[in-house]
Amino acid sequence: MNMIAAATDVIGAEAKTVLQVYRRNPVVFERGEGCRLYTSEGRSYLDLISGVGVAALGHAHPTLVTALADQAAQLLHTSNLFFHPLQAEVASRLTSLSGLDRAFFCNSGTEAVEACLKFARRYWHTQGAPRKRFVAFEHSFHGRTMGALSVTWDDHYRAPFAPLIGEVVFVAPDDSAGLQAAVNGDTAALIVEPIQGEGGVRPVSQRMADAIGASCSRTGALLIADEVQCGLGRTGRPFYSAALGLEPDLMAVGKALGAGVPVAAALFSERVAAAAAFGDHGSTYGGNLLACRAALVFLDELTNHGLMDHVATVGRHAETSLRQMGSRQPSVKDVRGAGLIWGIELDRPASPVVDAALERGLLINRTSNTVIRLLPPFVITASELDEGVAILEEAIAVCPRGGQA
Ligand SMILES: Cc1ncc(COP(=O)(O)O)c(C=O)c1O
Repeated sequence: MNMIAAATDVIGAEAKTVLQVYRRNPVVFERGEGCRLYTSEGRSYLDLISGVGVAALGHAHPTLVTALADQAAQLLHTSNLFFHPLQAEVASRLTSLSGLDRAFFCNSGTEAVEACLKFARRYWHTQGAPRKRFVAFEHSFHGRTMGALSVTWDDHYRAPFAPLIGEVVFVAPDDSAGLQAAVNGDTAALIVEPIQGEGGVRPVSQRMADAIGASCSRTGALLIADEVQCGLGRTGRPFYSAALGLEPDLMAVGKALGAGVPVAAALFSERVAAAAAFGDHGSTYGGNLLACRAALVFLDELTNHGLMDHVATVGRHAETSLRQMGSRQPSVKDVRGAGLIWGIELDRPASPVVDAALERGLLINRTSNTVIRLLPPFVITASELDEGVAILEEAIAVCPRGGQA
């Protein structure tokens, strides 16, 4: 296979044969190293988005490269008809990080959410008192499959695919009274992103977290923490739900888990897991050897080689330099986040800033209309962050208001 294809050829070929659902930037990457990506023409880019929060170890991390090559030479996939030694190892790392008891492996964040929704209902079915309703938050994003889409807020994603799974109530993220009213004895589960990612990088407030905990205790509703984007060390701690004092019964994780290899998991407390029976759920690829080997490398780096501490340290540096940049730039209205997940809210549309950054060799993206999002690789250094923030500042400064945001 010839990897050195002209960018225009690649883009032209895709336009004819690939379903047109992605508004891609006109850049074709060929290789990566650390926090840099390179095109076939040799242009380099500093990556502060890591494939939307996935490439936590950066690109071509030597330990991951060796482990994947070794695994490919040994055995890639046997399906869930048989045992292999790696699933239990990954599960035990995830359960000790999260405090939950069991893992179900799948391939993407939306599937992890799907499993959480299914097993929340399964739990109540087993109790003999079926509860069907879900409570979710405005501005939430939980994925694109029908169940996950049903608890995703934005009508832009939902409307073309209606009708979705019914009985979902959305509550404003700051409306604790509304939450108390929405969660009742019919609620199977409440689903929350501890830091909303796609919705504009909005951390749940402590007041709302307390209301979430109180609503679940009062009604028995299960709590699902969607940690797909903000979890697994991205905030410098294992899970942001724990930082808020939340005690989820179910949790969805993905993105960083495979450091680029598709793998995700739903995690369950024992009482929810006890409701599961053989044949209830499954995935052909879920937790295959390649996926588990990648997850083991990532989790090993995270907890045994100091990566989580590194994120905490470099994350504080990111916070300081982003807030300083924000105070210099009048168009920056707010800087939100923790660790290595940051949203910079502008008083104008964010897309032109993303384009201006790309022209200057910096990869970032936008969420909601006016928010620039940074999800750098966990391995990023303080000086790489400084370089990125300097380019970002220039990109913000050169973008005129250009109409109402
Ligand atoms: C919080 C959250 N949940 C679920 C998903 C869906 O993950 P995936 O795209 O891997 O299906 C995403 C993706 O951005 C996410 O941010």
